[in-house]
Amino acid sequence: MRLLSVRLIVSLIVGITLVSLAFSYYEVVGEKRALRSDLERRAEVLGESVAANVEKSWETGSERGLQRLVQRFANREHLLGVAVYDRQGKTVAITSELGQVLTTPPQGVTQAMSEGHGEGAFVRLGNDPVHIFALPLHRQDQTVGGLAVVHDVSYIRAQSLRTWRAAFLRVLIQVFLIVLITLLIVRWSITGPIARAAQWMRALRLGRISSRQQMPDLDLFRPLAREVATLAESLSQARNAAENEARLREASESMWTADRLAVQVQTRLNGSRLFVVSNREPYMHQRDGKLLEVVVPPSGLVTALEPVLNACDGTWIAHGSGNADTEAVDAHDRLRVPPDNPRYTLRRLWLNKEEEEGYYYGFANEGLWPLCHIAHTRPIFRAQDWQHYQEVNRKFTAAVLEEIKDTPKPVVLVQDYHFALLPRMLKEKRPDARVAIFWHIPWPNPEGFGICPWQRQLVDGLLGADLIGFHIQSHCNNFLQTVDRVVESRVDWEHFSVLRQNHRTIVRPFPISVALADDEPIESDAYEAAYLDRLALMHSLGVEAPVVGIGVDRVDYTKGIPERFRAIERFLEKYPKYRSKFTFVEIGAPSRTHIKRYHDLLAEVEAEAERINWRFQTGKWKPIVFLKQQHNHEEIERYYRAADLCLVTSLHDGMNLVAKEFVAARRDERGVLILSQFTGAARELRDALLVNPYDIDQTAEAIRAALEMEPEEKQIRMHRMRRIVRERNIYHWAGSLITELCELRLDADRAQEKFRGNVTVA
Ligand code: G6P
Repeated sequence: MRLLSVRLIVSLIVGITLVSLAFSYYEVVGEKRALRSDLERRAEVLGESVAANVEKSWETGSERGLQRLVQRFANREHLLGVAVYDRQGKTVAITSELGQVLTTPPQGVTQAMSEGHGEGAFVRLGNDPVHIFALPLHRQDQTVGGLAVVHDVSYIRAQSLRTWRAAFLRVLIQVFLIVLITLLIVRWSITGPIARAAQWMRALRLGRISSRQQMPDLDLFRPLAREVATLAESLSQARNAAENEARLREASESMWTADRLAVQVQTRLNGSRLFVVSNREPYMHQRDGKLLEVVVPPSGLVTALEPVLNACDGTWIAHGSGNADTEAVDAHDRLRVPPDNPRYTLRRLWLNKEEEEGYYYGFANEGLWPLCHIAHTRPIFRAQDWQHYQEVNRKFTAAVLEEIKDTPKPVVLVQDYHFALLPRMLKEKRPDARVAIFWHIPWPNPEGFGICPWQRQLVDGLLGADLIGFHIQSHCNNFLQTVDRVVESRVDWEHFSVLRQNHRTIVRPFPISVALADDEPIESDAYEAAYLDRLALMHSLGVEAPVVGIGVDRVDYTKGIPERFRAIERFLEKYPKYRSKFTFVEIGAPSRTHIKRYHDLLAEVEAEAERINWRFQTGKWKPIVFLKQQHNHEEIERYYRAADLCLVTSLHDGMNLVAKEFVAARRDERGVLILSQFTGAARELRDALLVNPYDIDQTAEAIRAALEMEPEEKQIRMHRMRRIVRERNIYHWAGSLITELCELRLDADRAQEKFRGNVTVA
């Protein structure tokens, strides 16, 4: 850049000087010519006037009279003098000054006398340049002499010199000013933008900025900059891909995506088909008067399994619980879903009121749910509910058998605590089926589980499966200990398997997750957008608050919602500066309200929110907004992305997918997750602020710490959590579970092998 400036300056100086000098030269020449012709004209006029006077005095006067006459003309401007000569060239009269330098008649005078007319010429007199105008003198038509009018011409030269001097000065000033202006223009329009462009490109190269929107104003370099931005983007994509590949190589496995899962499952199924059984269906048809709505129910199980079925096709068998579900199915109670882009089959199964009451509300949710969650709500076990539970398990088994009847070696994934008996019932009829059951809730220790009057039947039913999955290892351990205590079996602690009545079941942890895809970019510029959206969201709720927390739950006593509200109350008590600033939005979907405990809890949560709001609220601000209503995924995602923090304070939770959904939503790598240590998710998301939700003060402190955390720390924590969720996403969960299940050697295969005498069965 410096060399360019020097070159530019030198070229400008030389160029401007040459051009200016050429112009000055023409100016001087022109001026000189004008002065000379002016002089010639004046000399002629003066010569003729003097000649007329001399001719008149010559006739009458004496030589002295003539001398006086010529002397009278001597003081004209630039005139050196006037001389009069007779025919022989003898001086008759001459002005005194001229007399000193002109001793002989100039050549022009003789010539003028012989030619009879006046003539001017620029000549030198000694060293001095002069102009001599000579003309003949007449008397009665006879040439009697000659006249010379001599002008000093040195003033013309002096004038030219003055003009040259002015021209030089002008050139100097011009060069200076033009160079200065040029340098300024170069700096403003070239070097400045180039420096800015270089800085910007460097930032792009180092990955500090990511998109073209951040392109600085680069004037004339804008088209170039656009090209560079595209180049940089491709570069950064290539770099990301390379980094990913390196990371994956390190982890010796590639990232799980929907596509990879689809291929993997297809290979593993080897021409067979995937079947999923759960109580809750992924889509419910609800009619409200004339309005028919399709609702996705609030369920972690649904959140997790829907992307798997979308990727792999298959059949999902579930209880049709929507009030218009029957309207949407075909003659075989099937329909293709998702409704707007069908990719798999949903088979609905109908339960009557008593069945639903006894099996779902009663045994599953008043018995097993509180039994497995240590949340200090007493389980209720009724013999009648147990009857219904067995019947419904049988009913579902029949439905599954119907669905798999034409499929050899089907793969069946049974979901959750609603179907503990189904695996054995199914395997008895179809030993060739590969059956796994995934238990989405915790499994308590044997003492805890031991209070269930039908624990033996439940464990036995589960052990009908080839594979039992839990979220975390400690649930597997608790289960195996329970097995050890309640049924006749051999527990292999080395391989985490159980052998009972010649059937082997393996027990493994598969931490469930959400569908965070690998290609979701980091949005470093989304933070400001989140702030604006936060204000807009709060405005739409009629609250003014610049700092926002979010909680999303089914209103369930295991979620620790009243404890969370009390922690917010404590936080505002301890840190009054956050009053009028921090608002917590709780999206609470009412759940299982038919059960008294849930009904009461909903009222309790509402009352707590009201009590705390009453205590602190001012003007347009209140500390808690309780949205007692189910929200769809897009609505919830907007809150996740706008919030400063997310509170998950479950008293006990198998996994808790809200924590992972929040992490998945934060593409800006901001936001802080406060997470109960009693969730399965707490084992993986170590960068959350882990709390004991029973410790109100600790949670209040965590809220303060989250709000006052340095942005860099937030970013580092969120970045690490996102990596974990991305690497162990739902496709990884399904992929590993299905792979493990398909790789098992089934009893039927073993029996065949034994028959052929190939293998000794353990
Ligand atoms: C938990 C259970 C799921 C259940 C969900 C919603 O996540 O593990 O099986 O679907 O809660 O409960 P609900 O009773 O409404 O299906």
